[in-house]
Amino acid sequence: MQDTFILNTMKADVLLGLQWGDEGKGKVVDVLTPRYDVIARFQGGPNAGHTLEFEGIKHVLHTIPSGIFHPGKVNVIGNGVVIDPVVFKKEIDALAQRGVDVKKNLFISRKAHLILPTHRLLDAASEASKGTAKIGSTLKGIGPAYMDKTGRNGLRIGDLEHPQFRKMYDTLVAKHTELLAHYEYDYNLEDLEPAFFEGVELIKQLKLIDSEYRLNQYLDEGKAILAEGAQGSLLDIDFGSYPFVTSSHTITAGTCIGLGLAPGKIGEVYGIFKAYCTRVGSGPFPTELNDATGEELRAKGHEFGATTGRPRRCGWLDLPALKYAIMLNGVTQLIMMKSDVLSGFDKIKVCTQYKYRGEIIDHVPYDVVNEEIVPVYEEMKGWSEDLMVINDAEQLPAALLSYIDYIEQATGLPITIVSVGPDRKQTLIRKVVA
Ligand code: IMP
Repeated sequence: MQDTFILNTMKADVLLGLQWGDEGKGKVVDVLTPRYDVIARFQGGPNAGHTLEFEGIKHVLHTIPSGIFHPGKVNVIGNGVVIDPVVFKKEIDALAQRGVDVKKNLFISRKAHLILPTHRLLDAASEASKGTAKIGSTLKGIGPAYMDKTGRNGLRIGDLEHPQFRKMYDTLVAKHTELLAHYEYDYNLEDLEPAFFEGVELIKQLKLIDSEYRLNQYLDEGKAILAEGAQGSLLDIDFGSYPFVTSSHTITAGTCIGLGLAPGKIGEVYGIFKAYCTRVGSGPFPTELNDATGEELRAKGHEFGATTGRPRRCGWLDLPALKYAIMLNGVTQLIMMKSDVLSGFDKIKVCTQYKYRGEIIDHVPYDVVNEEIVPVYEEMKGWSEDLMVINDAEQLPAALLSYIDYIEQATGLPITIVSVGPDRKQTLIRKVVA
C-alpha cells in the first residue's frame, strides 16, 4: 500500500460507519493505524463487533480499539463508551492468547460508564416485554447503561477507585431490582456477579486516565489521533430510524462528546459504507431484499452478526440514506467496503430516490417507521471478475469503476479506499487526498 494520505496534525481524524453498522470499520482502522499514534473509541460498547483479519488470523474486538494489534500505538477507550467488565475481561484474555498485552498501550477514561449485570437483565426484560415491537437489541445492556448515564445514576470507571465502590454498586442494583420487578422476568443475579467483580479487579490494574486532558495533550504534542466509531450513522440515537436505534451518538459530533475534543479539532472524516446495505435487528430498511438476491448477498458476504451471530438483512445501496449520513457527519472522503461481494451479479441496483406519500423525494423523511417508503432504483451493469486477487485499484473492472464513479458524482466525494476482501492486504488505495 502506498503512503498517500496526508495527516491532519493537531486535529483528530474520524472514521465511522454511514449505514446501519457492520460496514467494516475494524478492518480499515487496522489498515490505517500505521499512520496514527493514537486510536480512540468514542461511543458504544460491547454491542459492537469489529472484525480484523491478517496473517490467517480472524479476531473480533468489542470494546477495545482496533489499533491494539499494532505494538507501540496508544489505544484509548473514551468517556463516551460503556464498558461491561465481563465482556472486557474476555476480550483481554483472548488478546493475551494472541500475545497482545493490553497493560502497556490501553488507556481507559475514568468517565466511561460501567455496564452492570442488572443492565443486561433490564435490556433482556425490556425487549421481551415489547414482543413484536422489539428493537432487536444485542442485549448487551447498552440502552439501560446509557439511561443511567443520562438519568444521572450511572457508575463510572473512576468509581472503581473509590473505597465505597461496593456500596455504590449495591445502591444502583437495588434500584434495578425494583425496576426488574415490573417485568415478568426470571433471573439469578448471584450467578452473574462473580464474573463482573473479576472483570472489575482486572480493570483496576489497567491505566485509568482523564482521557479528555490526555487526548488534547496528544494533539498539542503533534500526535496523530484516529477516532474509531462503532455501529453506524443510521443507528444514531437522534438521527437514526428511532426507536430502532442504539443509545449513543454514532456520528462525528459524538466524537467531540465521547472524547472531549472541541469541534474545531476534528480533521478528516472517513465515511465507510458497504457497496450494498445490511441491517441487523428490527427497523425500517427501504432497499431490503426479501428474495433470492438478498439471500445471495447474505451468503456471499457472510452477513451474520459478529457479536450475536444473527443473520443480517441485505439490500441494495441506498443513496438518499448515504447522502443523509454524509451530511450529518461532514464526511471528507469515502471508503467502499465489500465490493467483492457484488461480483457475479448481472445487474446491480442503486436506490436514488424514495416514493413516499405519493411523491418522489430525495431526502430521508421524518416518519420512516409507520409510513411506507418505496425505493426508486437505477439499474447498472454488474461485473464478474474475482476482485479478491486484484492488488491495484487501476485494475478494477470497468463496470465497478463506473459504479464507483456514479457514487462519487452522486455524493460529491472521492472514494479513496476500495476494499476487495476481509484481509488487511485486500485494501486498494485509489487517490491522494489533501
Ligand atoms: P443495542 O445497541 O444493542 O441496544 O441495539 C440496538 C440496535 O442497534 C439493534 O437493532 C442492533 O442490532 C443494532 N446494533 C447495535 N450494535 C450494532 C453493531 O455494532 N452493528 C450493527 N448493528 C448494531
